[in-house]
Amino acid sequence: MNYADRRKRLLAGLDSPLLLMAGGLLARNYPANVFPYRADGNFLYFFQRPEPGSAAFFDPADGKVTLFLAERTVADALWHGAMEPFSAVKTRQGVDAVLAVEELEKHVTALAAGRQVRSIAVADPKATARARSITGEDLDFDDAKRVGQGALLDRVAKLRLHKDADELAEMRRLVPITREAHVLAMQHSKPGVGEQFLKGQVEGAFARSGCTAAYNTILSVRGEVLHNNEYRNTLQQGDIVLLDAGAESVDTGYCNDVTRDWPVGGAFTPEGRDVYELVLRSELDAIDAVKPGVRYRDLHLRASRVLAEGLVRLGLLVGNPDGLVESGAHAIFFPHGLGHQLGLDVHDLEAFGDRIHYPAGRTRSAQFGTQYLRMDMDLEAGMTFTIEPGLYFVPAIIHNPELRERFKSQVKWDAAEKYLAMNQGRGFGGIRIEDDIVCTATGAEVLTASIPKATAEIEAIAGSA
Ligand code: GLY
Ligand code: MN
Ligand code: MN
Repeated sequence: MNYADRRKRLLAGLDSPLLLMAGGLLARNYPANVFPYRADGNFLYFFQRPEPGSAAFFDPADGKVTLFLAERTVADALWHGAMEPFSAVKTRQGVDAVLAVEELEKHVTALAAGRQVRSIAVADPKATARARSITGEDLDFDDAKRVGQGALLDRVAKLRLHKDADELAEMRRLVPITREAHVLAMQHSKPGVGEQFLKGQVEGAFARSGCTAAYNTILSVRGEVLHNNEYRNTLQQGDIVLLDAGAESVDTGYCNDVTRDWPVGGAFTPEGRDVYELVLRSELDAIDAVKPGVRYRDLHLRASRVLAEGLVRLGLLVGNPDGLVESGAHAIFFPHGLGHQLGLDVHDLEAFGDRIHYPAGRTRSAQFGTQYLRMDMDLEAGMTFTIEPGLYFVPAIIHNPELRERFKSQVKWDAAEKYLAMNQGRGFGGIRIEDDIVCTATGAEVLTASIPKATAEIEAIAGSA
């Protein structure tokens, strides 16, 4: 990655000095026992392998970048190993100066020389509090409206949204690793195997290739729980496993985000195959429609119409697909958005809020389901995002009196109940198919195309270990 060039391009658009915080180590219980470290996505974008607790000052007046690092102590060398001296880091990162982060307040006051300094909130609350006290800004990471000054967020997003050749190469490099994780989980999916064991296969594959999981692996026969992180079930014949997992590079922070599903033991039931092939058809149809200028919400609606049409055929919805999607009835079974930007953050730049993802006066729908559509921008070449339609049989939705009343003439509630009763009462579950897409000058490149998803292919792999 050309980090120096990225910093130069940022500096060219800044109208005031910028203080970026990497974020520090977060304790799991007592202070010395910490979660694995991951720097904030913006810091990862501008610096190679950022150190915990570091900070950086970008000065547009002279084009200089100062990096702030923790002082090297004997205790740190004893417990964690000796760190590169400041001079070596200065050369490796190609910055203008390296100073002690312990004296950040004093140094930033001197460098700012009376100018307003801006910052951007990060997930680490201590780092954000420090930035807030230095800049005087009202920063809060948990409130997208207070993450940072709007024009500054726009500037950073403009750089990060369009992936260059190096970024795409990095995301492509991860695909065989993500593929191995998915294929191993498929192969080991036999009756009697625990979800926890399969999770070990997935994350072992990531670790063996020097990667980490980009997010908490979602692996469950209860795929209707969208972000299911429990791993408590034992696979049984008739279950469908949903795996949503992607490798993340520990060197650069880029990641994959991929979902596949397969039948335990290797063969779908007729109902399972129908639902699987319908989700696949809607995914492929949406991918086919990707090209510059296409509005992402239109892709979401297009995939929703394919699903609605199929749900009518399966006897779960009644009506014409356009009307069903307009009223939101399809969301009873497809209750989330089609996807999101992808890159350094799995939901890339989501912390910056809808000002980035719903541009030019577009606002989120208030409708059930479509309210979760995470982006509605016109696609541009270089944007990298997911396409991930799904169909789910969620008891809390199917039994909700208000939804049953609202969609009483469009949803065949009795037919939906049958899906909850399938599989000896365990229920059908849910199916989602998710790939990572880059918008090219003429269409779509499916970065994750090598990860099996054709019905016959996954049936052949499932349970074959
Ligand atoms: N892995 C979370 C998502 O697909 O958005
Ligand atoms: Mn996703
Ligand atoms: Mn995912």
